[in-house]
Amino acid sequence: MISPLGVFDSGFGGFTVLKRVLEFCGQKPCLYLADTARVPYGDRSPSEIRLIAEEVVGWLDQQDISAVLVACNTTNSLAMDVVQKVATTPVFGLIESSAEMIFEDRVGVLCTTATASSSAYKQTIQAFRPGTLVFEQACPELVPLIEAGELDSPRLRQLVFGYLKPLLSVDVKAVVLGCSHYPLIEPLLKQMLPIGVRLIDPALGLAMKLENHLNSSGKTSFRVPLDFSGTRFCVTSDPLDFSSRAKPWLGMYPEVELISLRSKACIF
Ligand code: DGL
Repeated sequence: MISPLGVFDSGFGGFTVLKRVLEFCGQKPCLYLADTARVPYGDRSPSEIRLIAEEVVGWLDQQDISAVLVACNTTNSLAMDVVQKVATTPVFGLIESSAEMIFEDRVGVLCTTATASSSAYKQTIQAFRPGTLVFEQACPELVPLIEAGELDSPRLRQLVFGYLKPLLSVDVKAVVLGCSHYPLIEPLLKQMLPIGVRLIDPALGLAMKLENHLNSSGKTSFRVPLDFSGTRFCVTSDPLDFSSRAKPWLGMYPEVELISLRSKACIF
């Protein structure tokens, strides 16, 4: 049996990474872990995020995976060293992957509060392209609304407008979706951005790097809908609820397993 790719996030956000990976690398077996007991991560302290990362990656590592795909920017920002230390397989992150996709001189990043406070995007992009002006905008209210399935409500529009405003006032030419949940509201973001401002999804960069690593050529971009039958879905709470809320994204009710991380970081 082929070892699966281990993909994790706090909730649905990692679906945006899973989909890109299946599109770019073909129908690889995947193990998707959503830490539903502790979503959202973005309001947690760096030490909580690091402890959680240790547990999540420790569990994934015991599942005979072939690589860890960090489908969570918040973990990527604050605990990439922890992930690298715990994982015994190659690790792929979103932030490093996105830096290579940027060529504009003024870039905005929409992200969680924890990611914005870490300045991880700014540091990574500027290390790759010195001189780039990077403006990070925390969007604390988006993940709970997206998790609740609210994708185009007046409330969401008002919030997105408020989060984009400071970035547009400094004339950014590209906006990075610096939280893996945000590509799920890409249609709304596209409507609200002026023509000429490019939206960048770091998941695309991650999938391309992974494709290169796997040396695979299984592009299935034209196959709609994607096939999730090779993916094992696991959560840390309420599998039935996750399955029913996942249906609009996956086009089917996935079978979902409940796993226990026996948490040191038991902060609900
Ligand atoms: N989707 C994750 C990220 O990319 C986590 C969001 C959250 O749980 O706050 O940051």
